Amino acid sequence: MMDVGRHPNINLYTYSEVIEVNGYIGNFNVKVRKKARFVDETVCNACGECEKVCPVAVADEFQQGFSSRKAIYMPFPQAVPSVYILNNDDCLGHNPIACGKCADVCEQECIDFDMKDEIIEINVGAVIVATGMDVYDPTEMDEYGYTKHENVITSMEFERLISAGGPTEGHLIRPTDREVPKKIAFIQCVGSRSHSTTGNPYCSNICCMNTIKDSLLIKDHHPETEISVFYIDIRAFGKGFEDLYIRSKNAGVQYIRGLPGEVFEDPKTKNLTLIVEDTVANTVKDYNFDMVVLSVGVIPRRDGGAIQKLLTLSRTEDGFFMESHPKLKPVDAPTGGVFFAGCAEFPKDVKDSVTQASAAVARAEVLLNSDMISIEAITSECFTDLCTSCGICINVCPFNAIRGSDAKTGTPAEVIEALCKGCGTCAAECNFDALSMKHFEDAQIITMIDAMLDENPMDKVTVFACNWCSYAGADLAGLSRLQYPTSQRIIRTMCSGRVDSAFVLHAFEKGAPIVLVSGCHFADCHYIDANRWTQKRVEKLWDKLERLGIRPERLQMEWISAAEGQKWARTMTEIDEMRKNVTKEEVEHTKKVLKEDREKAEAKRAKKQSKKIAPKTNSPGAEISVPA
Ligand code: FES
Repeated sequence: MMDVGRHPNINLYTYSEVIEVNGYIGNFNVKVRKKARFVDETVCNACGECEKVCPVAVADEFQQGFSSRKAIYMPFPQAVPSVYILNNDDCLGHNPIACGKCADVCEQECIDFDMKDEIIEINVGAVIVATGMDVYDPTEMDEYGYTKHENVITSMEFERLISAGGPTEGHLIRPTDREVPKKIAFIQCVGSRSHSTTGNPYCSNICCMNTIKDSLLIKDHHPETEISVFYIDIRAFGKGFEDLYIRSKNAGVQYIRGLPGEVFEDPKTKNLTLIVEDTVANTVKDYNFDMVVLSVGVIPRRDGGAIQKLLTLSRTEDGFFMESHPKLKPVDAPTGGVFFAGCAEFPKDVKDSVTQASAAVARAEVLLNSDMISIEAITSECFTDLCTSCGICINVCPFNAIRGSDAKTGTPAEVIEALCKGCGTCAAECNFDALSMKHFEDAQIITMIDAMLDENPMDKVTVFACNWCSYAGADLAGLSRLQYPTSQRIIRTMCSGRVDSAFVLHAFEKGAPIVLVSGCHFADCHYIDANRWTQKRVEKLWDKLERLGIRPERLQMEWISAAEGQKWARTMTEIDEMRKNVTKEEVEHTKKVLKEDREKAEAKRAKKQSKKIAPKTNSPGAEISVPA
């Protein structure tokens, strides 16, 4: 961090937050709020005189509340820059000044009670999101007694207790009597690998090795201390990790496979009893300890939602940021020019975080050193003469790639091609055909449907499959030589979000007995959440079909991933059975009803459009003249 702080080409903004990000790959405009620290960082020499006279004492967050700090303090010993900060909330008040002792003793005169937040604007070509993680709060796991028993602490708190820079200067003590604990238990997977109502289902990746490291550290300083680790599995898969695990066992650390059901405290001695089912020995036993350490898991940053909005990112169901592709673009965000490093993307240890950070920097460097960048050839385009500035496209675009579209001024939509990734959701949602996808235009897809259903439509299942998951799933089914009916006819779109309601209705009007819309599972869509719009559209279509007296079951929707060849084959077999149950009369009735409905809608629209919409301003873009 020191190197970063001193590097001539790096501007380090500490005690700052990003409040706005505009622009696109290669050209981001970022607004940063540099918060007032009330200490001039260019003058402060960290003499510490202000801290000595400050009368306020509050719990020190960095030391996990084991010690106190003043209202003016150094955030942590290795802070960069090494200057003091005055916490406005803790200070007795400086408007008007209620104390002012720190300012009185500061020889450098660097305390400025009138300092204001500063807004800084910077222009950057790439953004690396390295926002880290939070740790699981075990208060909801009452069975471990974290809120009731003082000698039950978390692994983060334990870290401070054994750190040389910690509140005890590295001397291991138990909180109640400040004696060196003779028997310590570690409980693994607290808040991780849990499928109950508490905790998270994923493995936090770092806790096993952290416990092994801690156990060796204790054994180093206090070889007589008895240590037991209660675990589900020990996951020591990194380089040298297994050796460390064996060293810990050889040092006498006892590993017991099974998690405690409950932790009890003796009110007099404050000793703790754990009731544990040893799943190897198949016995339930009581164990007594002086201190229990809960090995708490990793959780996504609690303010991840704000970062997601700023950069138009997507998150997995676990809440971590989702990469563009797990194998091909593991450090890229779906938004061009944004990369990930560290636990923002998923829990990882220091080595993996550094590896990913190096990869992210290399990816950003490639971008910054390019004279030109390649963007998707498949992007959306707007026919401004058809645009009514309704703004729907702006709402549905997962990449914020559409601007303008202001009904008040009559400004038509404008597609920022550098931002557009080509999911096609805007084109599918536009009610006025004002947006189209290059290479996946309405006319091209309608022609495919016509060609497909020109002959023997009753024998065919019309399938719209997204390029990245369902189409690849179909490919896998074929490559795996899975047997399933041959009635399917697939129209590939980049995303299921491109499947316009009009395509589905057109297929039914052409005599399709069954239509399937298939895409990626939620959170797997390569265009952030474009498939959520697919679902909404299909649900609306189901309602419409029902209203028109058409069986909604004839329109199917299925999420099939690239790895689910078997699911593809199974789905096709089931849908083919449905196809066989659709009668000729049913199809003819559908064709008639849909034709009438379409003609009615077209007549209504033509009438509406023939009335030229009056411009709201004098700007030429405001005039909307739609051919009838
Ligand atoms: Fe498959 Fe969006 S990419 S549904």
